[in-house]
Amino acid sequence: MARDFSSLRNLDVPVKVLFTGYLTTVAVGYLMALIQILFTHGMADGKFGLSMDDIVYSYYGNRSGTVLETKLNGSMKENASEHERFIIMQWVRDGAEQGEFAESGAEKVIQERCVMCHGKGAPVPDFTDFNVLKELTQQDEGATFGSLTRVSHIHLFGISFIFMFVGLIFSFAETSTVKYKSIAIGMPYLFLLVDILSWWLTKLHPMFAILVILAGAGMAISFAFMWSVSVLEMWAFDKVFLDAAGQPRPKWSSVVETRLRQIGCDDALTTTKRIACMTQSAGLQLWRLWLNLGLPWLKQQIDSYLARKN
Ligand code: HEC
Repeated sequence: MARDFSSLRNLDVPVKVLFTGYLTTVAVGYLMALIQILFTHGMADGKFGLSMDDIVYSYYGNRSGTVLETKLNGSMKENASEHERFIIMQWVRDGAEQGEFAESGAEKVIQERCVMCHGKGAPVPDFTDFNVLKELTQQDEGATFGSLTRVSHIHLFGISFIFMFVGLIFSFAETSTVKYKSIAIGMPYLFLLVDILSWWLTKLHPMFAILVILAGAGMAISFAFMWSVSVLEMWAFDKVFLDAAGQPRPKWSSVVETRLRQIGCDDALTTTKRIACMTQSAGLQLWRLWLNLGLPWLKQQIDSYLARKN
């Protein structure tokens, strides 16, 4: 294939090592970020694993409770026993009065279970200052605008840089068509913007939580695609992209084209028409499956049922 740029497989080994080193490190970083998300946002509803509730609690907040309660039921759950957490919550429910702080036993629990992390000079709220603690007994409205602006700009700058280099490396790939390369390179930026926007939207209304998940998934998919194509082309080109005779394997886009021709959808020119044609063909196939397998099976079930009855 005539290309006026040096393709990944033709790069000098030192450059391949450089690219691979970068890609590997960034992939480990991505993994760490996912683990961190699991342990902070993922625990927001007190259950392990990322769910819609987690995202709603993190950005919109759990408006039926206070920050302190949400955290005690969420990511701070493991730091105190059931009874100790109950003591704190009871004090919060009773109005979180300073006069009852010591009397209710809440102060003792905070001192024993929380201040080792939430002490003076810590990066998390300092509970030795009563006013700081009192602040957290307000209604839980999720992420504050301050924290959202901070995290937004860090993400926009940091992640766009990561995709700058991942995309640049991937742009030397030769096994994807120009069209799919452009989509893969552009997608993460679009999803990054949608992701950040969706945090702000979720802060305003919980229904946008689904957008956070979709944008995150989109970013991960384009990252995985560019990453694996780049690494495979650099180190395993002959094995993966050439067949036994040394000829390029058919591109998956041409595999799709062939399939379309088989089911007679290739003359449908627009995407919508193609989708319609494919849906129709899939429907026909399902119907055939039903006639060949489903219906006989159902008949057999009915027959054996009737046989048992008689
Ligand atoms: C092992 C260290 C550690 C202990 C012990 C600990 N925390 Fe935390 N806490 C953290 C970290 C780290 C964060 C920030 C990450 C997060 O929000 O999950 C945090 C965040 C919080 C927040 C949210 C603060 C905010 O501004 O959003 C609250 C509320 C909180 N902790 C309450 C408690 C209470 C109550 C206890 C005692 C039962 C406790 N924590 C014990 C480490 C700790």
